[in-house]
Amino acid sequence: MTIRVGIIGCGSIANQRHAPEYADNPHVTLTHVYDPNPDRAKRLAERFGGQVAASWEEIVDHPEVDAISDCSTNEMHQIITTRALRAGKHVLCEKPIATTLEGAKSIVAAAAEAGTVLMIDHNQRLVAAHQLARKIVEDGELGKILSFKTTFGHKGPEYWSINASNSTWFFKKSRSALGVAGDLGIHKVDLLRYLLNEDIIEVSAFAGALDKKDENGQPIEVCDNMVCLLRTQSGAIGTAAFSWSYYGDEDNSTVLYGEKGVLKIFADPDAALQLMTSAGEQRSYNVGAIQTNDNQTSSGVIDAFVEAIRMKERPPVTGEDGVRALEIIQAAIRSAETGKTVSVLPNHG
Ligand SMILES: NC(=O)c1ccc[n+]([C@@H]2O[C@H](COP(=O)([O-])OP(=O)(O)OC[C@H]3O[C@@H](n4cnc5c(N)ncnc54)[C@H](O)[C@@H]3O)[C@@H](O)[C@H]2O)c1
Repeated sequence: MTIRVGIIGCGSIANQRHAPEYADNPHVTLTHVYDPNPDRAKRLAERFGGQVAASWEEIVDHPEVDAISDCSTNEMHQIITTRALRAGKHVLCEKPIATTLEGAKSIVAAAAEAGTVLMIDHNQRLVAAHQLARKIVEDGELGKILSFKTTFGHKGPEYWSINASNSTWFFKKSRSALGVAGDLGIHKVDLLRYLLNEDIIEVSAFAGALDKKDENGQPIEVCDNMVCLLRTQSGAIGTAAFSWSYYGDEDNSTVLYGEKGVLKIFADPDAALQLMTSAGEQRSYNVGAIQTNDNQTSSGVIDAFVEAIRMKERPPVTGEDGVRALEIIQAAIRSAETGKTVSVLPNHG
């Protein structure tokens, strides 16, 4: 079976990951692409194949399209992904799943009704070092996890977006909605849930537009830095920092502190994982680098999405995971706005 795919939104993530990884997958043909900027769609089609569609609706309603990648801007995910699911398509939706919880839940409801695959691109779960780290935690090598720290920062989306300028949509409240928290932070709360195999239940945060300016030289409308304190269901406490103003190397590191040892992930450029036990043992694992803005390696996301469709299986990142990550990030934003700690118990309605 060849899966016929359409890509909606032909910006950086479509060019750097979705289209090349579909091209490398033997079970897929890229049949349609769309972007409101027709030159971007044309350029993507010239490089990777497919016809340029006149609208995203043409792709989601097309009887010869089986699956879509929703690589549109954040505010459009709810509209495009929901409509595609209702039209019976499988959908790989970029993160954040939506800009509102209501929107995110309507996507999950549409997927349940359609019975098709919905996967959210929280690609950090598919990084080999993170998968091995989860196994080390599961195997009890660190004992109970007591604390953690994680960060994700780079020099900002105006260096990444296909519109590489300060007028990028990433800086607009009506489009990105969540600033760096929804861009980079949402990856790390999803990663913590994955690594620790438990949920985050309480959050306290500071956030601000400390540095970035829009095209008019005004401070941007969304946060460019956020620092959070998090508590998990089992009582572990830790920190998470997200930034668009790390003007050196990109930092995507995590450290887990357990009763029996410490696990450092992407903390040292020479070793993806470093384990130190309280008994004095030290181990390093070189299991490949994480994708960075300047160094794109295969994310494995497209292969996992295609496999879920072919095998009729649950994808490794579900719509529910996307909802939960959004819920925690929204709680962090609320905490930063109110100066109060916010409880974010799972399934609280
Ligand atoms: N998983 C990841 O690691 C990762 C990394 C980067 C971006 N993303 C996500 O991918 C999405 C796209 O980000 P990007 O980095 O490619 O941004 P980008 O600015 O490079 O590209 C966005 C594209 O979407 C197009 N677009 C705007 N309105 C649209 C509409 N109504 N319909 C279809 N397309 C529309 C724009 O014209 C532009 O070409 C965002 O939701 C972002 O959060 C995910």
